[in-house]
Amino acid sequence: MTVEQGRLRRAREDEVPALEELMRAASLIWPDHREDLLAHPDAITVPVDEVRAGRVRVHEQDGEVTGFATVQAVRGGEAELDALFVRPASMRRGIGARLVEDAAARARAEGAVRLAVTADANASAFYGRCGFRMVGETPTRFGPALRMLRDLISEPVPPPAR
Ligand SMILES: CC(C)(COP(=O)(O)OP(=O)(O)OC[C@H]1O[C@@H](n2cnc3c(N)ncnc32)[C@H](O)[C@@H]1OP(=O)(O)O)[C@@H](O)C(=O)NCCC(=O)NCCS
Repeated sequence: MTVEQGRLRRAREDEVPALEELMRAASLIWPDHREDLLAHPDAITVPVDEVRAGRVRVHEQDGEVTGFATVQAVRGGEAELDALFVRPASMRRGIGARLVEDAAARARAEGAVRLAVTADANASAFYGRCGFRMVGETPTRFGPALRMLRDLISEPVPPPAR
């Protein structure tokens, strides 16, 4: 994996349309979901409340947003990685993995002992590489998906995230 340069920061409210466009382009790379997504464009949303709450983090390079991730607030020791998308032209350069590490560190700092994700089967190799293990299946609007967990308990607690 190439180690991608660039920086991670909070998403801004005025970026929501651009993030939704990135999400749309990234989601369409898996051929088995193209039809569903094209038929249900409402599935492509980045909640502005989550942006306002600082729960959406973007990777930016040369002034361009190349990926983003959303992590929900910790509940019962578990944080949920709710969205993770990398611009197709920027895939396989380590950006997704970097966003996951950032999400894990921030969740750990908020007291989470696990990071959970409902993963598209196409992304299971990626999540496996990022330290997640499969724990089962779960239904979604577009069919069954994988439930995957990464234990954070053995990871150091970083200083509070800004
Ligand atoms: C899944 C996704 C976020 C990965 O982002 P990325 O920046 O391309 O991933 P990375 O470069 O950090 O990949 C890290 C490692 O994961 C694995 N990996 C990543 N993409 C993979 C793929 N399509 N197939 C198999 N393994 C993959 C590889 O081992 C990779 O290391 P390598 O490139 O050295 O082989 C990106 O493909 C994406 O946005 N997909 C569409 C949306 C999606 O499925 N999001 C997840 C929703 S559950």
